[in-house]
Amino acid sequence: MDLAVLGGSSGLRLAEAIGYRLGVPLTRRVVERFPDGEIHVQILDSVRGADLYLIQSAVIAPEGGLLEMLLLSDACRRAGSARVTAVMPYLPYARQDRRATGREAVGARVVADFLGAGKFDRVIAIDLHSAALEGVFAVPVEHLTAVPLLVDALRAGVARDTVVVAPDLGAAKLADRYAALLGLPAAMVHKTRESGSRVRAGAIAGDVSGRAVLIVDDMISTGGTNEAAVAALRTAGCRAELDIAATHGLLVGGAVERLQRLHPRRITVTDSALHRDLPAPFEVLSVAALLADAIGRLHQERSLSELVMHA
Ligand code: R5P
Repeated sequence: MDLAVLGGSSGLRLAEAIGYRLGVPLTRRVVERFPDGEIHVQILDSVRGADLYLIQSAVIAPEGGLLEMLLLSDACRRAGSARVTAVMPYLPYARQDRRATGREAVGARVVADFLGAGKFDRVIAIDLHSAALEGVFAVPVEHLTAVPLLVDALRAGVARDTVVVAPDLGAAKLADRYAALLGLPAAMVHKTRESGSRVRAGAIAGDVSGRAVLIVDDMISTGGTNEAAVAALRTAGCRAELDIAATHGLLVGGAVERLQRLHPRRITVTDSALHRDLPAPFEVLSVAALLADAIGRLHQERSLSELVMHA
């Protein structure tokens, strides 16, 4: 079975880097909008019998990106691909994984069902908002982690008396993971979300007084969570040295400026969901090698154990 790599509109940059690492030229395709707004796709190279990996990081206007994936998958299947894998380093709607208050949709489940229409054989994702999200998909989900990649980049810069902070309860396990890999203690901020962009930080569990801080999370969207956490940490007497790290840098609206105003030394994110260049003190790590490694192993039916997130 030949290996094929195909990039969706918002996964093209990553797909090129992955294809380069695997020594596979990208499968050529057309993705265009008809005048009435409908998406039209066409695969230009033969994919008959191929083990095909479709890379898409649907973040901005995820609805279009998701539909595009279904169309591309359908085109590949009809053109004879033997296996189609959806590679979604960042899974949109992942935060809607439960009904937090009343009469809401479970968006993650709806998106998983929608993707089901693409008849993907499996899904590859990185640092899902919650590990349990694997269960909303009917097909196998390979849940990779970029934490070791981030930790390697952070290791040299963090002071010995740093505390790793989860800015909310949902990030507590993640903070423990970073802390264990860095040999540092962990703490957690209690957060209440008031709206999509406004959060309130309350009590802190753990000792942060007089310590440098590394805040870690699965994603940064508006930057509100980090802003609230930093205010609470500074009130609690942490030192000024601040580092921030997250796998998915969505960085919507004025998030970049909002985070810069916190005067961190470094903000480390990956390119899993990134659609722009970032100014200092942002540092962007690429997940291309991680994804290429995973794809290479899957193609050769080899174990993924070293690359996956264990809950
Ligand atoms: C929420 O539970 C997530 O893990 C992040 O903390 C949150 O989504 C970040 O969003 P924002 O940057 O908009 O506060």
